[in-house]
Amino acid sequence: MKISVIGCGYLGAVHAASMAELGHEVIGIDVDPARIESLQQGIAPFHEPGFDALLKKTASRLTFATDMSSAADANVHFVAVGTPQAADGSADMTFVNSAIEGLVPHLSEGDLVVGKSTVPVGTAERLSASVTPTAALLMWNPEFLREGFAVEDTLSPDRLVYGVPEGTDGDTATAVLDEVYAEILAKDTPRLVMNFATAELVKVAANSFLATKISFINAMAERADVTGASVTQLADAIGYDTRIGRRFLNAGIGFGGGCLPKDIRGFIARAEELGVGKALSFLKDVDDINMRRRTRVVDVLTEELGSLDGKTIAVWGISFKPDSDDIRDSPALDIAESLARSGATVVSADPEGWKPAQARIERAGLSASLTTTDNHHAAVTGADALVIATEWKVFQEEDATTIGSLMAQKLVVDGRNCLDSDAWKAAGFRYRGMGRA
Ligand code: UGA
Repeated sequence: MKISVIGCGYLGAVHAASMAELGHEVIGIDVDPARIESLQQGIAPFHEPGFDALLKKTASRLTFATDMSSAADANVHFVAVGTPQAADGSADMTFVNSAIEGLVPHLSEGDLVVGKSTVPVGTAERLSASVTPTAALLMWNPEFLREGFAVEDTLSPDRLVYGVPEGTDGDTATAVLDEVYAEILAKDTPRLVMNFATAELVKVAANSFLATKISFINAMAERADVTGASVTQLADAIGYDTRIGRRFLNAGIGFGGGCLPKDIRGFIARAEELGVGKALSFLKDVDDINMRRRTRVVDVLTEELGSLDGKTIAVWGISFKPDSDDIRDSPALDIAESLARSGATVVSADPEGWKPAQARIERAGLSASLTTTDNHHAAVTGADALVIATEWKVFQEEDATTIGSLMAQKLVVDGRNCLDSDAWKAAGFRYRGMGRA
């Protein structure tokens, strides 16, 4: 099939290459010429395991362009542009609206437009007013991929969700998308067909549930901190109950990234608009618990070191999670900036995030007190404390004795509860976890 993918960020670029991997002819379109140039050369514009290899493997069926007219040859058009957080907390729909507006003149009768972006309820219904006059069909097919596993999640998803218009149009749209995903469906992947509003809700509900699970365990960490209990053992113990499950119960400095934080805020904003704000008011607590985690690390360091003014602090981790260079709403970077604002000299190390962070640090006017590197040994040299802010494997596997020999004081704050605390204590470190001793 001939497919266009509008928007070539984490979601769109990986989706485009994955559709080519399924055997389709794909054109990826984005307004950013530098991004398109890089993709066209087979170079991933962001760090995503397996994506470079997939780009190369699918090069003969995959092209990229900046002009929307390139979509005219395709019959199926995926819309995968971003919906960042607007100033009032709601989802900013500028890119979705302009993608649809740009695409409409190039649609032909019988084409299928498939929305993948995370949008507030009512969006698909609203956009169908622009798409329907072209005699093309519109569907909403939310994406559940995780950064760091984007290729795997796209090609082997847990489930496919189709939001379809009412009546026979829904059956036609479903049949076309089934053809696109034939290889995935052949693996017995569950496929759920529902109306637009339900499909839109599924996505934000899933992310809100995950965010709630993380904030629940972080609330338990706050509780454990004042009682001497261990939140890690608590999570292990409750996680054995299969109704609860152990995944997404890792306490620490909380969730960040381009999805969970903005999705819960957008969900609250839309619910308030619809007059059911009360139903989702608990998500404000979820957000508050999460944001408190970022100040917790600064508080622990202050307890241990007194004033942070003039202290040297190493932070391992800048990206919002391991195996990613994404620094959007990263708890690790927020903490490094807070420490720098408290008067400390901060060196942040990250295998991937060290580079993209530099422009943001410069914009914040913190370049003099916060520097970044990809060398985590250099970062700890002479430091009064080490903070673990992103659980990259390379950090977890470090030898505590070697690290201790480089530092001025042996103090480690394990913001992700990911170190072997006994090994670090045995190497002479004062160890502070998040809700565990
Ligand atoms: C999230 C969802 O997991 C995906 O299913 C969804 O498709 C995606 O958002 C999206 O909306 O596009 P992602 O943002 O890649 O994926 O990251 P997650 O793996 O969900 O992690 C989010 C944050 O939670 C990270 O900062 C991570 O460190 C934190 N986290 C995760 C915890 O603090 N504790 C945990 O136990 C798990």
